[in-house]
Amino acid sequence: MQLFLIFVLFSKLALSLQTETVIQFAYTEVVGRADTPVTTRTLNGVSIPWNDSAHGVDSLRDILFQTEQGPFLEKSLEIILDSFNHTTASNHTYQRMRKCQLDGYRVRWVSDLVRYDGADYLRLNGSTNTWTAAVPQAKALQQVWASDAARTRSERVCLENACTELLKDLAQAKHSALEDQESQAVMLVWVTLLAAASLLGLTFISFLLFKRQASNGSGHPGGQSAVKTVDYRA
Ligand SMILES: *[C@@H]1O[C@H](CO)[C@@H](O)[C@H](O)[C@H]1NC(C)=O
Ligand SMILES: *[C@@H]1O[C@H](CO)[C@@H](O)[C@H](O)[C@H]1NC(C)=O
Ligand SMILES: *[C@@H]1O[C@H](CO)[C@@H](O)[C@H](O)[C@H]1NC(C)=O
Ligand SMILES: *[C@@H]1O[C@H](CO)[C@@H](O)[C@H](O)[C@H]1NC(C)=O
Repeated sequence: MQLFLIFVLFSKLALSLQTETVIQFAYTEVVGRADTPVTTRTLNGVSIPWNDSAHGVDSLRDILFQTEQGPFLEKSLEIILDSFNHTTASNHTYQRMRKCQLDGYRVRWVSDLVRYDGADYLRLNGSTNTWTAAVPQAKALQQVWASDAARTRSERVCLENACTELLKDLAQAKHSALEDQESQAVMLVWVTLLAAASLLGLTFISFLLFKRQASNGSGHPGGQSAVKTVDYRA
C-alpha cells in the first residue's frame, strides 16, 4: 500500500519535471477529394485523440483547421498543382504540419510546413515569420502567402494558443486521474482496515461461542432427538 502511494507521488513529480514538450498538428488530404481530409495531433510523438466528448466537436480542431477549408486553400492547391503541371485526376496529397515546442506552458518555437506528394514544399521561418520555398516550384505559392502577412500572423497565434490549451487540458485530465487514484488508494486502506477489524471481531465471537459450548457440555442432545422423532413419523 505504501509502495503504491509512493508510486503516485513519483508520477506526480515526473509530471511537474517533464517540461519540454513538442506538439504537432497535422492535416492531410488527397487533392480534390472532399472525403479524404484527416487531422491528427501528437504530443512528444504520442497520438492524442480529439476530444469530441464535449459538444460533439473539439473546439481546438475547429479553430486550428478552419484555415484548411474554404477559398484560400482551394486557391493554394490550384497553384501547387499548376506548379507541377499536375491535374487532380490522379492522387496527389497535400499536407500541413504545424508544431510547437513548449517549455512549461511557454511556446519556445513553432514550425509550419506545407508538403506535397510527401515532399517539403513551403516552410515557415519561425524567427522571421516568413515563408520560404523548399523547392523551386513553390515560388508562386510563396509569393501569394507572403503577400498576406496578417494571415500568417493570426495563424501563428492560433497555433500557439492551440498548443498551450491542449497542454493545459491534458494536465487537467491527468491531475484529476491522479486524484482518483489517490482517493482509490485511501479507500483501499479503509477497506483493508475494516476487513481486518471484522475478521478480528468474528474470531472473538467464535472464541466466545466455543467457550460457552465448552462449559455447556458437548452439543445439544435434546434438539437432535427431536429432529429424529420428526423423521420417523414422516
Ligand atoms: C474533454 O472535454 C471535457 C468537456 O469539455 C473536459 O472536461 C475534459 O477535460 C477534456 N479532456 C481533455 C483530455 O482535453
Ligand atoms: C509545365 O509546363 C510548362 C509549359 O508547358 C513548362 O514550361 C514547365 O516547365 C512545366 N513545369 C514542370 C514542373 O514540369
Ligand atoms: C487513389 O487512391 C485510392 C486509395 O488510395 C485508390 O483506390 C485509387 O485507385 C487511386 N487512384 C489513382 C488514379 O491513383
Ligand atoms: C530564418 O531567418 C533568419 C533571418 O533571415 C535566418 O538567419 C535563419 O537561418 C532562418 N532560419 C531557417 C530555419 O531558415
